[in-house]
Amino acid sequence: MSVSAIPVIAIDGPSASGKGTIAAAVAQRLGFHYLDSGALYRIVGLVAGERRINLDNDLEVSRIALNLNIKFNGEDVWVDGREVSGLIRGEVAGAAASRVAALPGVRAALMTLQRNFRQQPGLVADGRDMGSVVFPDAGLKIYLTATPEERAQRRYKQLISKGVDASMAALLQDICDRDHRDSNRAAAPLLKCSDAIEFDTTGIPVQSVVAKVLQLYQDRQKEQ
Ligand code: C5P
Repeated sequence: MSVSAIPVIAIDGPSASGKGTIAAAVAQRLGFHYLDSGALYRIVGLVAGERRINLDNDLEVSRIALNLNIKFNGEDVWVDGREVSGLIRGEVAGAAASRVAALPGVRAALMTLQRNFRQQPGLVADGRDMGSVVFPDAGLKIYLTATPEERAQRRYKQLISKGVDASMAALLQDICDRDHRDSNRAAAPLLKCSDAIEFDTTGIPVQSVVAKVLQLYQDRQKEQ
């Protein structure tokens, strides 16, 4: 079977819109592979920061992106043999990710790595450009949104539950800054593809969104 025949569900949307939770749950229900593309940008941002590289230097940051040895195991992530699962989830890595993600060379460097996740029996991929750039032929494209206030609230709960100190006002500001950077950059800006189905998840429980995505996927399969 050719790679293009392997099913892909692309789930895009802004920061903290629930993409990761929904995509992982849908992948699990279908027995598909799961790509958390944001983790890749977070790793590149983290490592570039640690090596004190200017986060706007496309050449040097892309070199890092090209040479990293990244391994996923469920929610755990290793880079060059070091476990970085907790480190990359922090707000510092998130902000660094959104800066390095604006660099065209970095995006190009991560392309093959992302496309290699497309394996049998299928893939659920979440990010900003899964449907628009990385998997433009995805059979189902979903664009998840929620109000910035709700997204800040979700992130707040997530951090507090992990014992991490957080401020709602700072989180809301960070989410708005990140939305602005992700939507206004020249390289693969965050956008809803014309063939994506948009869901506003504000106030909707995770399980209902997961059920809706699964239903849409089944409907698409019947249409084929
Ligand atoms: O999804 P997550 O919040 O982990 O992504 C971190 C950052 O990585 C985002 O703010 C965005 O700038 C960038 N990103 C991207 N393209 C993707 C996934 C993430 O530009 N496909």
